[in-house]
Amino acid sequence: MSSNGEIEIGDLKIDNEDDVVNPWSVTSASQEGVDYDKLIKRFGSSKIDSELIQRWEKVTGKPVHHLLRRGLFFSHRDVHTILNLVEQGKSFYLYTGRGPSSGSMHIGHLIPFIFTKWIQDIFNVPLVIQMTDDEKFLWKDLTVEETTRLALENAKDIIALGFDVEKTFIFSDYTYMGQNSEFYRNISRIQKCVTFNQVKGIFGFGDSDVIGKIAFPAIQAAPCLSTSFPDIFGTAKVPCLIPCAIDQDPYFRMTRDVAPRLGFSKPALLHSTFIPALQGANTKMSASDTHTAIFLTDTPKQIKNKVECLDKNLQSFFPVRRLKQNA
Ligand code: TRP
Repeated sequence: MSSNGEIEIGDLKIDNEDDVVNPWSVTSASQEGVDYDKLIKRFGSSKIDSELIQRWEKVTGKPVHHLLRRGLFFSHRDVHTILNLVEQGKSFYLYTGRGPSSGSMHIGHLIPFIFTKWIQDIFNVPLVIQMTDDEKFLWKDLTVEETTRLALENAKDIIALGFDVEKTFIFSDYTYMGQNSEFYRNISRIQKCVTFNQVKGIFGFGDSDVIGKIAFPAIQAAPCLSTSFPDIFGTAKVPCLIPCAIDQDPYFRMTRDVAPRLGFSKPALLHSTFIPALQGANTKMSASDTHTAIFLTDTPKQIKNKVECLDKNLQSFFPVRRLKQNA
């Protein structure tokens, strides 16, 4: 901690009043949840404002999805560039992913996928979905065999959303790495562009983190390079748009730095907020605490019980808000 009460996580200086938002943890300083405007400033992304929404509607000739209209997707990087491409009749592809850490996904996990499906439908573009079974093996107390199985289970939840089967490629890292050497070649190229100091800066890795973690960001970055998918794009360098929750941004800040050095455009991003935990807004829904989340495999009775608990929590949450507004 520095003398002015700031702490440093990676390259971000945050004061004690700040929320913690990174790929491994999300907690807010206030009961009212994460301060997303502050996050935009800290991360250096751009706010999704009414001007961008109007332009999107003009370019597509269709009203935007309610997740955009209602601000669940609130931040972006370079989405204007993607709209420029569409106006010029050029194409792009979508990339999103899932770290399979639980047998069933919960409703918070679905947000980026529901939104990605809508984008795929209106632009009729290819989509790649990365299942990072390797990431969850490295970060969680799970075996390789377990994360391999969870990736398959989660892929079923994702497929159920109804993506275009002709235009969607879902792959697990363990499986695809052995099938396609262009993917691993791009991982290697990215690894050569990033120093240990840089990943320490971006992700806050320390000297005692296992080397698998330190090398992993290149694996999440490689699908941003279209040549990782020769069966879909051949050798063409196609621009990439990533819908994801804002906690994944560190991976793509790193990728946006590397991509131009490898002759690719920087991936564009659409960031979502988090669905709060049922217990209150200061953490996100989490698969590791089953009481905080509604799972896709929950029975109607389980959901009813959880929502009744939520009602009680809301009653204790809202008076605080009202007091603040009156103050
Ligand atoms: N790291 C993500 C997770 O833990 C999974 C992921 C891989 C991802 N590639 C992605 C998420 C691209 C969003 C976009 O869930």
